[in-house]
Amino acid sequence: METSAELAPPDPSDTAASSPDAPPLDTSQISDSDTALGIDIGGSGIKGALVHTTTGKLITQRLRIDTPHPSTPDAVAEVVREIAEKLGGQSPIGATFPAVIQHGVARSAANVDKSWIGTDVDAVFTKATSRSVIVLNDADAAGVAEARFGAAQGVPGVVILLTFGTGIGSALMMNGQLVPNTELGHLELDGHDAETRAAASVKDEHKMSYAKWAKRVERYMSHVERLFTPDLFVVGGGVSKDADKWVPLLKLNTPVKPAVLLNNAGIVGAAMAALERQQS
Ligand code: BGC
Repeated sequence: METSAELAPPDPSDTAASSPDAPPLDTSQISDSDTALGIDIGGSGIKGALVHTTTGKLITQRLRIDTPHPSTPDAVAEVVREIAEKLGGQSPIGATFPAVIQHGVARSAANVDKSWIGTDVDAVFTKATSRSVIVLNDADAAGVAEARFGAAQGVPGVVILLTFGTGIGSALMMNGQLVPNTELGHLELDGHDAETRAAASVKDEHKMSYAKWAKRVERYMSHVERLFTPDLFVVGGGVSKDADKWVPLLKLNTPVKPAVLLNNAGIVGAAMAALERQQS
């Protein structure tokens, strides 16, 4: 299959060594045992970078390849193989996947090809790359990364991260520990699957203003708030880069912080999971 790989342009959210504000990361000090390859699989793009898991910094630029359509296991595995090969090394690989992942097996497929359901995603990617691969839900990976290095760093109690993109993803954390696969984006809201009302894709599709869309997000988040009484909400996904346009409009009892790692949260969380598995 023909794919075209490109280095993603520098992103202001990159915590990479190249960030103008950060002192350059001295890669000579980084041991292989602290690095892992993080790959973030989304509906439109598959992005990967090598991550220094102790600091959460990217130590290579992000490589991005368009998600193949249809996004079947064989087609996606080929892209994962290409990214692993291009970024080189032998470090373990962590990958995010936009579905319920129970011990490596996909149990749902809301926004990806349905043929993934029941597939051992760990095994498919491990075979494709000949390296050890661990797979976790995309929002769970972002939650783990934000809890360790981002907006929820050091926050005790119940933290809920919600990602607003094609769908709505969720990560529930208690004192920094993840409860995986909460899938709060599929709560029923006014008789609808919540993500079909309040995902960022709905805003784009219906050309809604931030003010109008924020009303829907507020309605959705107050429902989540009633169920979990969290200490903090972290909101992520592509729209979190415009957080100032909608987060201040939300009237909730719980504080809301925009995600800090933005585009890199999935990559960093996946890499952390890979290293943790290797060390366990
Ligand atoms: C999926 C979740 C995923 C979220 C964000 C939802 O449709 O069910 O597993 O985390 O989209 O990609």
